[in-house]
Amino acid sequence: MVKVKILPDKEHASEEVAQMMHDLIVEKPNAVIGVATGSTPELAYDLLAEKIKEHNTDVSQLQFFALDEYIALPWDHPESYHAVINRTVTVPLGVDPSQVHVPEAPDDATEGPIRYYDEQIEAAGGIDLQLLGIGRNGHIGFNEPGTPFESPTHVGRLTEMTRQDNSRFFDSVEEVPPLAVTQGIGTILKSRKAILMAFGEAKADAIRDSLAEPPAEQRPGSGLQLHSDCVFYLDEAAAAKVDCEELKVD
Ligand code: PGA
Repeated sequence: MVKVKILPDKEHASEEVAQMMHDLIVEKPNAVIGVATGSTPELAYDLLAEKIKEHNTDVSQLQFFALDEYIALPWDHPESYHAVINRTVTVPLGVDPSQVHVPEAPDDATEGPIRYYDEQIEAAGGIDLQLLGIGRNGHIGFNEPGTPFESPTHVGRLTEMTRQDNSRFFDSVEEVPPLAVTQGIGTILKSRKAILMAFGEAKADAIRDSLAEPPAEQRPGSGLQLHSDCVFYLDEAAAAKVDCEELKVD
């Protein structure tokens, strides 16, 4: 089920999420953490890096699994998720690159399941905490509307809206790859705890659709209602279109 936390702004929400991640790392030094790319979680990663430095926290046994990777983008391209995760997670948190997994996304991958990544996650003991953002169309990872809720890691096709939204990281929309390898919604639902962050009015429709019942595959975020422990961290603007009174936690 989904619980909702509404914070005054992104700074407060990111601080809470960073604190929760740090608490988990202290309690379970070999925790397995699922990390998202996109602008939304970056501040939480920065704040977590500060806490790790301040407390000299042991990060040597952690494992990280990224949600997704573009197909046909070289790993040394600054917007490949290998590069983004290295820049925002691996280096600031001071972990060894061998502790950080990002899906391989070979140029010749075709649409369909990619089993090895889910097997790697299972072999690591499963994900303790999965961080998520959400797209304007409700996608989580690159699970676009229509993706089956039980999907494993697979090759997915980006919608035009997603390519447009992500074109801000590239010189043009044509440069945004149309295909990506993404953890499936089924993969995400296996995590022991999931945290979705969303800030700003551009996300308000996606949040309303994710909390609208019943869950439907045309609204990927609504699949999180099937998760055993999922909390949405929202600012007022992202929460504006839904009455979450009965879902709220302190
Ligand atoms: P954003 O992307 O964090 O850059 O808004 C979220 C997403 O598309 O999942």
